[in-house]
This record gives sequence, structure tokens and C-alpha cells, in this order.
Amino acid sequence: MNSKTSTPIQGALREDALKGKTIVVTGGGTGLGRAMATYFLKLGAHVVIASRKLAILEKAAAEMESDTGGQVLPVACDIRDIDNVERLLAATLERFGQVDSLLNNAAGNFISPTERLSANAFATIIDIVLKGTANCTLAFGKHWIAQKQSASILNIVTTYAFTGSAYVVPSAAAKGGVLALTRSLAVEWGKYGIRSNAIAPGPFPTKGAWERLLPGDLAKQFDFKNRVPLKRVGEHQELANLAAFLVSDFAGYINGEIITIDGGEWLQGAGQFNGLEAVPDDMWDMLEQMTRG
Ligand code: HXC
Ligand code: NAP
Repeated sequence: MNSKTSTPIQGALREDALKGKTIVVTGGGTGLGRAMATYFLKLGAHVVIASRKLAILEKAAAEMESDTGGQVLPVACDIRDIDNVERLLAATLERFGQVDSLLNNAAGNFISPTERLSANAFATIIDIVLKGTANCTLAFGKHWIAQKQSASILNIVTTYAFTGSAYVVPSAAAKGGVLALTRSLAVEWGKYGIRSNAIAPGPFPTKGAWERLLPGDLAKQFDFKNRVPLKRVGEHQELANLAAFLVSDFAGYINGEIITIDGGEWLQGAGQFNGLEAVPDDMWDMLEQMTRG
């Protein structure tokens, strides 16, 4: 909802903005991946959704097709395994004949004090987020370079990819790596016409993230909207609008950008005096007298 008008957030792009494109969305059967993939379909794209759980993908694909009238190919793929990723590429080409964009959205995460993590717990997150993104990027990138085809890669990171974050350290390390991958390949593969960009979302409630990051009462005690200057969480359509623009030809000169969409959340934590928001109005009169004095 738009907080001023209480009307649903609208799609921002014109209806044929992605017509003729095929877009692969990892983690596209749930949460934010599904929201972005659904909007791509509404804009005329063919979409491939890929993750480990085929039953979830197949159900999502059927619902997305009936909601949008578009075509969705669900593919079981563990992005940690390069052979799985090669099969994802092959299945995409077999069904749609081409692929134009890769949205690296799949991720794994949970909260934990770092000293409680086993080496395998740490590696599991790095393998999904950083190695999985690298596997997909390599397979699709090599294909585009061999085909001499221009294309775009869009990576979903987080704002703590810039800052780091306690209690999600493997995720922060992996997302920081994805950020570096994005900027590095924007330069190296620019000559092939391959654009690389990323989105750093703030809080956008999803089942997958909230169950793992805010279990039980934590969601009430640690209400994300209180951390956001705009005093609300993000709407999935707001993220989908940005993602659709970045994979569209309208963004053809945007390369190497990490675009934050968080209502100002991470900056709120950064400015040393931002906490003065807690000072009531009448106290400002007294404080002004003191500072003028
Ligand atoms: C400590 C844990 C743990 C926990 C698992 N492990 N959960 N350690 N605390 N809560 C350990 C296990 O004991 C094991 O180590 C290792 O991690 C691997 O666990 P598996 O369950 O075998 O792994 P796997 O089946 O591959 O599942 C991966 C997963 C799971 C990440 C653990 O949660 C998952 O499938 N997640 C996918 C979806 C997801 O995470 N979505 C949220 C993204 S949100 P040992 O040593 O015992 O073998 C996000 C938002 C960011 O990124 C920003 C929000 C504002
Ligand atoms: P989600 O619904 O849990 O999405 C994660 C997806 O990744 C799932 O569809 C999962 O499907 C897939 N996945 C996990 N491991 C995989 C693997 N090894 N191979 C293939 N797919 C795998 O959570 P979400 O909130 O929508 O998160 C989507 C993206 O947004 C993530 O990159 C996350 O870091 C980012 N993000 C989210 C928020 C937020 O507030 N929600 C904020 C910042 C960034 P399977 O289980 O079927 O494999």
C-alpha cells in the first residue's frame, strides 16, 4: 500500500517492457523471487524459476501462469552444484531458445552467534549465496560470451553487504562477495554487452526470511519498521518495479550499480546524531537555549 493514499503499489513499467525476453530467477518459487518473476511475466517476459524443491516450484509456476497468462518453466536446481546449473541453462535454452537475464536471488541465511556455528554451517551459507551466485554467473556468462549476445545479470544482496552485520556473519561475508562480483564483472564483461547490477533491499517481509531471522517473539520485539525513517517495511511490488527496470532495455546504460531500496534504513544507523529523533519537541527549545548560550 502507498502509505499516503492507502492504494496498492502499481506496476511502474509499460506493459510490453520485457516482451521477448527470457529471464531466469533463482529462488523464483517463493518470497521476493516469486514477486519479481510474477511482475516480469506481467511485462511480457518468459520466466524460468529455479530452486531445490520442485513441488513448490511447480505449484508456484501454475499459479503464476494463471495469474498473468505468461509462460513459466520450473526447474529443480541446487545452485551449489555446477552440473545442476548447467542443466538449468540447457533446460532454459531448450524451452525458450534463448536467455536474456539472470536474476541471482536464491539465498540461505539464519541468525546465530558466530561462535556457535560449525564450519559446515558457515560453509553452507557461503556455498548457497556466493558460490551459487558465482556458478550461475559463470555458466550463463560463458554462454552469452560464446553467443556474442548482450545480456544482464541482477544480483540481490542486502544493505549489510556494505556494513557487515553481527549475528548473520556468513551471509554478510557472502553478500559482500556478491557485491564485489557485481562491480568486478560490470567492468570485465562490459565489453561483451553484459551488464551487472545489484539491488540491496531493506526489510521486505517474506516467510523464508522472517522464519529464520525473526523467529517466535523476535518479530514483535525487533519490529523492522521502527528502524526505517519512512516507518514502514517494503512492498514486494516496489522491489519488483526496480528489478524489472534494471533488467529492461530502459536501463541499458546502468552497469555496476548497487541500488539500495530500504526506506533509508541503513543510513539511519550510520549518522552519529540520528538517535536525536528521540528528543521531544519541547526539549528542543531548552537545548537551543543551551547551544546558543
Ligand atoms: C546454527 C544451523 C542452523 C541454525 C542450520 N545450521 N541451521 N546452525 N543455527 N539455525 C547448520 C546445520 O546444523 C548444518 O551444520 C549446516 O548448518 C547445514 O544445515 P542443513 O540444514 O543441512 O542445510 P541445508 O538443508 O542445505 O539448508 C540450508 C539452510 C536452510 C540455509 C540451513 O535454512 C535453507 O534451506 N534456507 C533457504 C532459504 C533461506 O534461508 N531464506 C532466507 C533468506 S533471507 P552441521 O555442522 O550440523 O552439519 C536473507 C535476508 C537478508 O538472506 C536480510 C534481511 C533483512
Ligand atoms: P526466501 O523466500 O527464503 O527465498 C530464498 C530462495 O532461495 C528460496 O526460494 C529457496 O528455494 C532458494 N534456495 C535456497 N538455497 C538454494 C539452493 N542451494 N539452490 C537453489 N535455490 C536455493 O527468502 P526471500 O526473503 O524471498 O529472499 C530472497 C532474496 O532477497 C535473498 O537473496 C535474500 O538474501 C534477499 N533479501 C531479502 C530481504 C527480505 O527482507 N526478505 C532483505 C534483503 C535481502 P528452495 O528452498 O526450494 O531451494
